Amino acid sequence: MSNKTFYITTPIYYPSGNPHIGHCYTTVACDSIARYKRMQGYDVMFATGTDEHGMKIEETAKKSGMSPQDYVDEIVAQFKKLWEYMNISYDRYIRTTDHYHKSAVQNIFKKIYDKGYIYKGEYSGKYCVPDESFWTASQLVDGKCPECGREVIDAKEEAYFMKMQPFAERIEKLLTETDFLQPGARVNEMVNNFIKPGLEDLCVSRTTFKWGVQVPFDNEHVVYVWIDALSNYITLLGYENDMHDDMHFWNPETRCEVSPVHMTAKEIVRFHSIIWPAILMALDLPLPKRLYSHGWINFGGKKMGKSTGNVVDPFILGERFGVDAVRYQMLRDMPFSGDMDYSNEFMLNRINTDLANDLGNLVSRTVAMVEKYFASTLPEQKLQNSEQDDELISMATGLKEKIDDLIEIPQLGNALTEIFKVISRANKYIDETTPWILAKNHDDKPRLAAVLYNLLETIRITSVLLSPFMPSTMPKVWEQIGANGDSLAYSKSGEWGILPQNVTVKRGEIIFPRFDVAKELEHLESLNPKT
Ligand code: ME8
Repeated sequence: MSNKTFYITTPIYYPSGNPHIGHCYTTVACDSIARYKRMQGYDVMFATGTDEHGMKIEETAKKSGMSPQDYVDEIVAQFKKLWEYMNISYDRYIRTTDHYHKSAVQNIFKKIYDKGYIYKGEYSGKYCVPDESFWTASQLVDGKCPECGREVIDAKEEAYFMKMQPFAERIEKLLTETDFLQPGARVNEMVNNFIKPGLEDLCVSRTTFKWGVQVPFDNEHVVYVWIDALSNYITLLGYENDMHDDMHFWNPETRCEVSPVHMTAKEIVRFHSIIWPAILMALDLPLPKRLYSHGWINFGGKKMGKSTGNVVDPFILGERFGVDAVRYQMLRDMPFSGDMDYSNEFMLNRINTDLANDLGNLVSRTVAMVEKYFASTLPEQKLQNSEQDDELISMATGLKEKIDDLIEIPQLGNALTEIFKVISRANKYIDETTPWILAKNHDDKPRLAAVLYNLLETIRITSVLLSPFMPSTMPKVWEQIGANGDSLAYSKSGEWGILPQNVTVKRGEIIFPRFDVAKELEHLESLNPKT
């Protein structure tokens, strides 16, 4: 197996409020990919963290009567608690208040300045205080912030700027000549709205607040959000600091083909597809290989977010439905390039249909039949597979390659759909082969054994490929179908006949219980009036 590196990152989130299921989506998606890549044998670095500086945090902390540091410490503890609860296997958690990051950001700023790409000027424009964003008049929507719809103010300040023009051509090539930005539909938007009209220089410092990294050669200024925030992706690997020594995750010679991968939602695609490459070019560093910017989880037609107040509590959802079921529904139903409207009802129906009915039933029916007809242990002697089995076997053995490809893009919803096609096919196979009729005739026992073995093999393959998405439930499936050790190797998930011929199953608890939708909805409403 390959020992090449694979590096994947979530955005570093603002700790300006507790995390919600919007943050969960990106983090669970990255976690599933990281787990898949580890399963494939890559040396994986999966990083997440928090973006803790800026005026908004400074103000929110003040309102809560706390120092910014105490305030972010409290929220970061919530983020970490949620990631543990959601079974997030991150390798590194970076906080922009980490000492090593702050000193590295100062070095990075100085390096770009020394190369002549940063200069001092004056910034004037329309400023949205809650979003900490300057906008040009043409970007405003009805005179208001295009991002959050709130009032903007006229503001002017001395500031450092980073030149963007020297990088424009290379950035355009990165966007139009490679498959860096996914979904590809976002490429035109970036090129037409930002590159074609001429990239504006980027404001990289502020004097209006103090809660940030000081510009190393000018005490009046703090480094403005994007150089501080985006550099996390390399400072956490050890760039310009002695804390870590992991830059091989960034090096094209040691990394696998599609790595590093950044995942974000669509509102920050500009920063990741234009500004981040420009910073890397200014530093003479290699560029990342993939930026996947997914859509939003909406709630009642609006983006779910801390400031809009319509957040759904992931702890409550996990407790009611099970963490793996929540992980599954989010990943399955987020379209590759569109948004997803969140509804508890939709989530419950998805869990009932796919997990309780399709997967749960397949496992429990199969295991129950092996128990009933063969006292839990299949006989060695079986009838050769026949034409009736071909389609199921070829679908199951061809699955791994399909999922490998979809993970690279990454199209996680489609990957799950493909896996569940095989699970549905297996359920249909039970109806076609009618094991309960075979069981009535002693001479059909070898055929019955073959049918049940084929079902167990299908469960083995699909559950191994599902395990990065639902990491705590699949081991329960393996226990029931008697799979362990080598038979669970990812490398064998494209092969048939891996479980021992005389495999022994073990009936266990129901893996995914079915929910009474109306009852659950009522309960959720009583718990959380916002949903
Ligand atoms: O933008 N639907 O932090 P942030 C889907 N600190 N994803 C959502 C979501 C929703 N409703 N709400 C949040 C920042 N997200 C910066 C990033 S990176 C160098 C700096 C997820 O707390 C999604 O990944 O506003 C989105 O891009 C991110 O959280 C924004 O998090």
